[in-house]
Amino acid sequence: MSSSYVLLLILLYTFTTSSVGAQAAGVEKGFYKKSCPQAEQTVQSIVWDRVASNGALPAKFLRMFFHDCFVRGCDGSVLIDSTANNTAEKDATPNKSLAGFDVIDDVKTALEKACPQTVSCADIVALAARDSVSFQFKKPIWEVQTGRRDGTTSQASEANANIPSPSSDFTTLVNDFANKGLDVKDLVVLSGAHTIGVGHCNAFSKRLYNFTGKGDADPSLNATYAAFLRTQCKSLSDNTTTVPMDPGSSTDFDNHYFANLKLGQGLFQSDAALLTDGRSTKVVNKLLDAGDFLDAFKNSIRNMGEVGVLTGSSGEIRKNCRVVNS
Ligand code: HEM
Ligand SMILES: *[C@@H]1O[C@H](CO)[C@@H](O)[C@H](O)[C@H]1NC(C)=O
Ligand SMILES: *[C@@H]1O[C@H](CO)[C@@H](O)[C@H](O)[C@H]1NC(C)=O
Ligand SMILES: *[C@@H]1O[C@H](CO)[C@@H](O)[C@H](O)[C@H]1NC(C)=O
Ligand SMILES: *[C@@H]1O[C@H](CO)[C@@H](O)[C@H](O)[C@H]1NC(C)=O
Ligand SMILES: *[C@@H]1O[C@H](CO)[C@@H](O)[C@H](O)[C@H]1NC(C)=O
Repeated sequence: MSSSYVLLLILLYTFTTSSVGAQAAGVEKGFYKKSCPQAEQTVQSIVWDRVASNGALPAKFLRMFFHDCFVRGCDGSVLIDSTANNTAEKDATPNKSLAGFDVIDDVKTALEKACPQTVSCADIVALAARDSVSFQFKKPIWEVQTGRRDGTTSQASEANANIPSPSSDFTTLVNDFANKGLDVKDLVVLSGAHTIGVGHCNAFSKRLYNFTGKGDADPSLNATYAAFLRTQCKSLSDNTTTVPMDPGSSTDFDNHYFANLKLGQGLFQSDAALLTDGRSTKVVNKLLDAGDFLDAFKNSIRNMGEVGVLTGSSGEIRKNCRVVNS
């Protein structure tokens, strides 16, 4: 073997392994380019149409994607309906305010007509999250890799065990994310998703009324903001009222969440927790720059979208996103 041939082999090996490394999860850009060329355009046009008349939807889809990925990986299991024998993820306690399932159904119906059993429900969730949030920019603001396949199991108990609680402290959050292969930077950046959407009072009212069990407020919560929140959430048991998580800009996908955090206006303990550690505080400070936030979000949401994905011949392509194929 000539030495230049050996060199070529080494170069080839390095090139292939590093490009495999870049797509470790087995998802790729434009997976449906040949099998269903209109797939991504179909998702975008249906989602944009619905978001145009319902500004709450981007937050619903972004949270749906998060919940899907944190339970059994991004496998569309969040979409499965409960049956007589099984209580599914969407009926677990942390499901509160999950919505948008009807839009996913519309997209799936259109795609089954165009390309039967080709586009997974898991990819539809990933694309709907991107497209709904991107509507305000009139162009996609992050790239979605595709090729996920659908799981066949969805259990409420697994949602309860894997979805972080809003009363989590920093260590718990770091562990919850590390269990999904996500690091401190991903935790902070992805928490920036709370720049859009709303939270129910009972997810944080302990911070207003009974933080340590002595009828006190959370000292890390801005006192002015706490007083305002008490006018919205009138008691510890209020589980119906919602408040915007990023007041004043709760439908704009921007980095304002981090400015709020610095003012002690993070809504949940899990938000405030990001300022209780030096490493995460450093990331928060960096994300006060709008451009840094969008760049970092592109990266971290791609990482989240690779969590536990099924590819190749694993799983299935569901015909109806709510029901496992029979
Ligand atoms: C760090 C751990 C996290 C915790 C503890 C957490 C907790 C929560 C809670 C309790 C709510 C309010 C639900 C309600 O009361 O209706 C919420 C809303 C939301 N979360 Fe998170 N979350 C976390 C991370 C994330 C991530 C990683 C994303 C997406 C990338 C995300 C996206 C959202 C969105 C968009 C909403 C608003 C939903 C709506 O308006 O209906 N969250 N989150
Ligand atoms: C529920 O369980 C019963 C008995 O195990 C079985 O006969 C039935 O087919 C199951 N139904 C569904 C919807 O899975
Ligand atoms: C959430 O779970 C409850 C039961 O705990 C159920 O009644 C409700 O319909 C579920 N919400 C959604 C959107 O699936
Ligand atoms: C506040 O918390 C304490 C300790 O958990 C509890 O005994 C008390 O009943 C709570 N107060 C209210 C108003 O729920
Ligand atoms: C809200 O609280 C009431 C009273 O405790 C309870 O009956 C109801 O099931 C709760 N609703 C939700 C959505 O958790
Ligand atoms: C509390 O929030 C107000 C704005 O609502 C802000 O002016 C003030 O500086 C904040 N206080 C602290 C300690 O961050």
